Amino acid sequence: MHYEPVTPIRWHNGQVEIIDQTRLPGELAFIRPQTVEEMWDAIKQLKVRGAPAIGIAAALGLYLAVKDSRAGNRAEFENELKKAAAYLATSRPTAVNLFWALQRVEAAIAAATTDDIAALKELVLREALAIRDEDEATCRAIGRNGAPLLRDLEAVLTHCNAGTLATARYGTALAPVYYLASCGKVLKVFADETRPLLQGARLTAWELHRAGIPVTLITDNMAAAVMARGLVQAVVVGADRIAANGDVANKIGTYGLAILAKDHGLPFYVAAPASTFDLSLKSGEEIPIEERDPAEVTHFGLRPTAPEGIDVFNPAFDVTPNRYVTAIITEKGIIRPPYQENILQVLDVGRA
Ligand code: MRU
Repeated sequence: MHYEPVTPIRWHNGQVEIIDQTRLPGELAFIRPQTVEEMWDAIKQLKVRGAPAIGIAAALGLYLAVKDSRAGNRAEFENELKKAAAYLATSRPTAVNLFWALQRVEAAIAAATTDDIAALKELVLREALAIRDEDEATCRAIGRNGAPLLRDLEAVLTHCNAGTLATARYGTALAPVYYLASCGKVLKVFADETRPLLQGARLTAWELHRAGIPVTLITDNMAAAVMARGLVQAVVVGADRIAANGDVANKIGTYGLAILAKDHGLPFYVAAPASTFDLSLKSGEEIPIEERDPAEVTHFGLRPTAPEGIDVFNPAFDVTPNRYVTAIITEKGIIRPPYQENILQVLDVGRA
């Protein structure tokens, strides 16, 4: 199977070009943020979303912040960069890739050997584009590493969108599906619609269908029935942040799916790049969980679906305890329990 995946974020003709994911599936439209404020807004409003993609967007947002800088010296420039990073960091709290990417660009500037402001600006852009390019290679490696786990299955269930649209390309959870398809093995995918913002219905169903991969859309409350009927043989999801003990924050509803998978004897796989691990956090309890506008729950688009003024709880993510996670698929290899030790070993960090 041969197809060219879409490019959700790119640097084109001297501008950042982003697919506006809030317009999908109706329309494939692009936005071209010109300022750091416009990039902040695009992230906040989920025009660009998915952990790796918001990291890339934030890094490019730093470039938008400093591209017209009139800093008189390097210290002033670094200060402007720091302020912009602090501002972008307020857009969404859960996906650690956002903070990782901001820190990476800041570190590249701190390590620069030049004081020339034009050269430093160029370096910010180059580092942001390197993050984008590396993410594409990383996702391809996640696909290659995860493929043996899924190769002999007929169908998998996924939640939210952890596909091409959520990354530079190929996705994380969907990367093994795309990789296998490129090798001639086409898996079926059941996609949870993913209330309240329908990333599964709007985005996962759209990109898989476009790629020619058979996708069956279900509402979130159908997952147990799908498993009970033996229609899927594994669950594979992405992640927004993974703590040192292997607890996984991902789109709200993931935790419930993990419990269902365990009860039905199905493997529950999480696919994520090394940049999604936050080893400074001992467990998932420490992961900050974004709470969003109640209107996302009380309305379907602009139409109210609940009584006015009703109390709403709208966390965008939940935390799946490590005991439900069969394995974590990364670009560096597959991590299996016990996570505390094996995360460090496979990611090759934190050891003398
Ligand atoms: O709120 P979103 O759409 O940004 O949530 C996205 C998810 O939960 C994804 O599963 C996660 O970011 C992994 S994307 C490769």
